[in-house]
Amino acid sequence: MTPDNSLIQQTYADYRSHFGGEPEVAAFAPGRIEVLGNHTDYNEGYVLSAAIDLGTCFLAARSPGSRCALYAPDVGEEDVFDAGSFSPCDTHRWANYIKGVIAGLRSHSAIGGLVGCFRSNLPIASGLSSSAALEISSALAIAHLFNAEIPPLELARIGQSAEHHFAGVRCGLLDQVTSLFGKQDELVMMDFRTLAIQTVPLSRDACFVVCNTGVKHTLVDSAYNERRAKCEEAATFFNSVLPRPIGALRDVTWAEWEQHSKAMDPDAARRSAHVIGENERVLKGMDLLRHGQLPEFGQLMFSSHASSREYFENSCAELDYIVEQASSLNGVLGARLSGGGFGGSALLLVHERSAADVSRKIADLYAGRFGKHCEVRRVSASAGAHML
Ligand code: GLA
Repeated sequence: MTPDNSLIQQTYADYRSHFGGEPEVAAFAPGRIEVLGNHTDYNEGYVLSAAIDLGTCFLAARSPGSRCALYAPDVGEEDVFDAGSFSPCDTHRWANYIKGVIAGLRSHSAIGGLVGCFRSNLPIASGLSSSAALEISSALAIAHLFNAEIPPLELARIGQSAEHHFAGVRCGLLDQVTSLFGKQDELVMMDFRTLAIQTVPLSRDACFVVCNTGVKHTLVDSAYNERRAKCEEAATFFNSVLPRPIGALRDVTWAEWEQHSKAMDPDAARRSAHVIGENERVLKGMDLLRHGQLPEFGQLMFSSHASSREYFENSCAELDYIVEQASSLNGVLGARLSGGGFGGSALLLVHERSAADVSRKIADLYAGRFGKHCEVRRVSASAGAHML
């Protein structure tokens, strides 16, 4: 699916009215859904994901000297800094993602002054990776602007490094890789140890519905970093008790977890149970998809959510309610939280013919239970980031 034309036109209109003249480059990067494999990426495991038909459009042009000006029309803010010296700032947090990208690009190529403007149709903080879409669209556009030839995996790392050093989130590579390697009507399967990527078609009979709870845990970034630290602690534990080197939780089997978990710190035991189970589910899920066994695949999504709820404790009442209701609706194959968790979106895999009906029912049930609106929309597996 091509990016929404009205998004692109609106971004051009904003660019022209703010900076005057025409941009030299334009790029689009999509958000993503995480279909199976939760918090497995930074544990060197496996994830099935897809780029979606919502994303960010970034326009830029060179400007004399080293002055950089970034404009975010939807909040009406401009951030101005020097390309040679800048650091993350608290006033325009959205600019930190782009500054982090520029810092990463500078280690490959000379980056001078520029003006940039972006717009997105991704809901912010909804678990659909609006920050990765901003990083990747700006990275592609600015790399092009300064003729820097950077391989896609390196661009993904530059986006990740912006999160680590300019936003304070020790995320894995999932969001950036999916935004770059998405393919229309296909899921992306990535092995985060070898960094091998393959895509697998999604049956035409099925589609995805995203339900954005609008909930954002106030300490979501620190909770994410804390979960990651517990996973690393668990890997260190397994390395000390198993007879072979354990580089990451990816190397531990469920049978080994069962054998040793009683001797572990209880938090590290629960967090690692989730990751180890998720890795096994993704491998099984790939097999099921290849054989067209969608109902069985959907059951893995429900198991994944139960594991998030019980072991990783990154769900919330709103997500649990949606997944539980979805499980008894006709036409729903599977449902789970998608992405970091602690709020954000639930992802439903539904029969194509039931998508409209399921969406309406979930929105009504949610409003009845919580007295607030839940944004429910159908999304399609789409192509990855590209120049426009
Ligand atoms: C966020 C992070 C990803 C990944 C997911 C959870 O989206 O940015 O790297 O860890 O959470 O699977």
